[in-house]
Amino acid sequence: EIDAEQEKALSLLAHETGKCGGFEMLPEATHKGLAPSNPLLTHVFGQIAEREALNKRFTPNSNLFAQMTVNPVIASAVDQVNAENLKKTVTAMAAFSNRTYNGKMPNDGVNALKGMIEQAVQGSKLPVTVELVDHRSIGQKSIRARIVGSARPNEIIVLGAHLDSINQDWFGSKAAPGADDNASGSSNILEALRIIANQASAPERTIEFMWYAGEEGGLIGSAEIASDYKAQGKDVVGVLQLDMTLYPGDGAFTLGSMTDFTSAWLRSYFENLNTLYIKAKIVNDKCGYGCSDHASWNRQGYPSLMPFESSFNRMNHNIHTANDKIDGSSNFEHSAMFSKIAVAMALDLGNSTVRETK
Ligand code: BES
Ligand code: ZN
Repeated sequence: EIDAEQEKALSLLAHETGKCGGFEMLPEATHKGLAPSNPLLTHVFGQIAEREALNKRFTPNSNLFAQMTVNPVIASAVDQVNAENLKKTVTAMAAFSNRTYNGKMPNDGVNALKGMIEQAVQGSKLPVTVELVDHRSIGQKSIRARIVGSARPNEIIVLGAHLDSINQDWFGSKAAPGADDNASGSSNILEALRIIANQASAPERTIEFMWYAGEEGGLIGSAEIASDYKAQGKDVVGVLQLDMTLYPGDGAFTLGSMTDFTSAWLRSYFENLNTLYIKAKIVNDKCGYGCSDHASWNRQGYPSLMPFESSFNRMNHNIHTANDKIDGSSNFEHSAMFSKIAVAMALDLGNSTVRETK
């Protein structure tokens, strides 16, 4: 048992070794026999092993998606992604001294972002609903925008990013602009929404755009939402998580695709989508722990995908400090790739009947 200060120190130490503990037991612990003989923990370890097995079951097979061809409507939508729009959103979000879930004004940045979302879809061709989502354990709210599917509205595709920021710097200034982590991913989702909302017709499946609260506190907002969706029996076909897209650590247009807490099926689908529309260089990598909101969905059994700005070790090391600002290394054309992924996924998977077979 450790107190809050010790938890902070533990997190700092873990980050210095290159990995965050994420405050959960890692599956490796079970293999090394480190699991205490506590029935609750045994249950948790069982669940982790089950999830790992589920994630591995699908063997990527390029033939599976062989019928995928370029759709000019999707290609032109992807082409509409505008890096300047991303810069505007990131600038506005990073102007808040922080967007911390347990800060003094946890919803100032949230309300401002909601205003930007409403403005971006004002007068759009398709109807869009935008709402705040309350949470049971924190005061910060998530935001959800929805375009209802024209043919199979119960089948849902979630495109998401966390909206909160944090400062874990013990000595520096306490501001948490969170430009890369994660105004960047938030701006990507907003730009994708703007484009999809102005398509001539709605996708056959429902598209939900989410900006999660409290990710930095341990995936709090997304964990509540994903478990509520599961409890309500919602049919989420695929989840895209965008968290940090602005810093091209492996060079522009090379992205990392996280293979842990994600679905092999969705990753294989994404590789095909990339060949057709994005043309990024994809490097497979792992966080090594449930590093972002895709893990919340994966834990509830929903297929998720997490393309990332670079490989894990080459990520932006200014995150969680007052220096996570737009600077000379920020690359909005690189970041634009991630909005393209969201647009292509909404318009291709959103008009498809394919799904992961369980
Ligand atoms: N954006 C990070 C996650 C991240 C960091 C992904 C580096 C890939 C590379 C996210 O906002 C975060 O900080 N997550 C926490 C863990 C979470 C469970 C609180 C972390 O990594 O410490
Ligand atoms: Zn973070």
